[in-house]
Amino acid sequence: MMRITGRVKRIPAGLVILVSVVCRATAQKEASVAPNTDRSVYAELLKAPKNAVRRRNPLEGDPDAAAAGAKLFELRCAECHGQTAEGGRKGPSLRAEEVQRSTPGTLFWILTNGVVRRGMPVWSKLPEPQRWQIVTYLKSLGPAENPPQ
Ligand code: HEC
Repeated sequence: MMRITGRVKRIPAGLVILVSVVCRATAQKEASVAPNTDRSVYAELLKAPKNAVRRRNPLEGDPDAAAAGAKLFELRCAECHGQTAEGGRKGPSLRAEEVQRSTPGTLFWILTNGVVRRGMPVWSKLPEPQRWQIVTYLKSLGPAENPPQ
């Protein structure tokens, strides 16, 4: 009787250890994979063709364009990307390094083509000058760690 009880007790103990090891491994895997998965949201920016990347923003540095872009952003983009582009329920932060270090031409290309299969709409119906205004606004933001003055 005693031996059987001992054996019965040992099996669940082994199972508990096994389950906890598997759980810990899974948790570690998730923890190390999660940031990469996050960053992959910006992968589309790297797909812009060279001529699009090099395209110059005709409104670069124009404060009026940035102000107009801010208004357009609030109207068209904030519902997904947040009021100040910090990221929202549907869209990622546009203050992220990946976006901020992209050329104006790359951002213009993303706006023109969207990433429809992943929820980012196409903005080709927005007149080009308005798309450049939005790009000018985005470029004026800088990373989240350095909020604009
Ligand atoms: C309906 C929600 C929605 C709206 C509105 C929206 N976006 Fe997005 N946006 C997304 C999502 C979702 C992604 C992530 C797409 C992906 O996974 O590549 C994204 C991605 C981006 C990116 C990063 C590109 C990349 O690699 O994915 C930029 C830049 C961007 N949006 C700018 C804008 C601007 C500017 C506007 C307004 C003109 C706008 N978005 C409007 C949902 C939206």
